[in-house]
Amino acid sequence: MTHTARTGVPVGMRGHDAIGIPPRRPTRVPAERYYSPAFARLEAERMWPKVWQLACTVDHVAEPGDYFEYRCGTYSVLIVRGDDGSLRAFQNVCRHRGNSLCSGAGEGLRELKCGYHGWTWDLAGALRRVPHRKGFGTLAMADHPLVAVNIDTWERLVFVNLDVDAMPLADYLEAVPQDIAWCGLGDFRCYATMTVEVDANWKTIADGYSETYHIQTLHPELHRCMDDVHAPQTIWGHTSKSEQLYGVASPELKDDLTDAEVWDAYVRTQGALMGVAEDAPYPVGQVTDGQPIADVIAQRTKEFAASRGVDLGWADTEQMMRLHQYNVFPNMTLLANADHLTVMTALPGPDPDHGELTMLLWTRMPPGAPRTRPVHVRVTADEAHPGLVLTQDIAVLAGLQRGLRQPGLTHLTLSNEERRVINMHRNLERYLDLPESQRMTGGETP
Ligand SMILES: [Fe+2]
Repeated sequence: MTHTARTGVPVGMRGHDAIGIPPRRPTRVPAERYYSPAFARLEAERMWPKVWQLACTVDHVAEPGDYFEYRCGTYSVLIVRGDDGSLRAFQNVCRHRGNSLCSGAGEGLRELKCGYHGWTWDLAGALRRVPHRKGFGTLAMADHPLVAVNIDTWERLVFVNLDVDAMPLADYLEAVPQDIAWCGLGDFRCYATMTVEVDANWKTIADGYSETYHIQTLHPELHRCMDDVHAPQTIWGHTSKSEQLYGVASPELKDDLTDAEVWDAYVRTQGALMGVAEDAPYPVGQVTDGQPIADVIAQRTKEFAASRGVDLGWADTEQMMRLHQYNVFPNMTLLANADHLTVMTALPGPDPDHGELTMLLWTRMPPGAPRTRPVHVRVTADEAHPGLVLTQDIAVLAGLQRGLRQPGLTHLTLSNEERRVINMHRNLERYLDLPESQRMTGGETP
């Protein structure tokens, strides 16, 4: 693909790619699905038990005896690395009286023993011990294994699906693995996860990372150092994608900004990728005349990676600075370029007005690097400060959820620029099998 020297924007991309071809009229989505308990129940019955969900990373369950409990609403799944090295997942329930077997995450598990009456399973899910077994009459051990859950991995992401007859994960992910294969995601290691408890529905959270339309307003600093116009979007089925080039000003601003101002905005919003602090000045003497600022940033980022033993000599400015953002239905997004990987999920809370945003943070390591066990923090929305941009995203959620509940707002009105949000609803409607009267309308292609 040829690129213009100045912006890196592929030649031939004209017009507003983020908008694409506008429909005849907007898409209208019933607002009720963001707060109705009945709708949340429908999701819990028909959608959550049927879809592939990101549960944890290989770094959480790398060694035999490592375990991780994944919770989604009322569902609880145990992920266990067996003595044979295999990864397995089970519904987290004792087959005697239904107690939860395990919680949290850890290591050194030898067996799964219920803390209530002591029924005990091995790590492959076979029932091994029942205290006072005689009292049950004839109790066949083989008839009471742990209830298996479908589990598979893509790169170092561990997915589960409560539906043991579900389509393979590789089919569910559609074109995504192939599309990002160039990036070598397997060399990233997860070093931390952060769960933020928010006063918002899981869809309210997920919508925020499914469109770039809000950047011009909610993220003025980001708008000064990324191209939100030449940002093509692709919809596959369960999955979709947006591409955004960083290190250039939004075309809506570019005539008004100097290179130094673009640099400052980049440093402020994501300087950590270059290993520089918030107040790092524009490196005047080191930039040759006419050199795109994106090249300067890419070079600095490569040098920072080299300082921790990571060779990014293979990556050009385009691969360093263009962010590839994927959405996987229902609740995951993955953002990557040659030296960056962040994964986020949105999960239902105890009621439809509450949810959880989980961020998985990664660092590219030299190939074959061992894992370090990721640290986990859980915070409220007020305590969370995961950088300027994400903090802005989180701060808007409670007011958004409150607004969605106002009786005068019957529908959300969506643009083609928000087509990844629309695609989420399209998938949701498919899983929930909604009657015609409850479906979204509009959005017809011209
Ligand atoms: Fe945002």
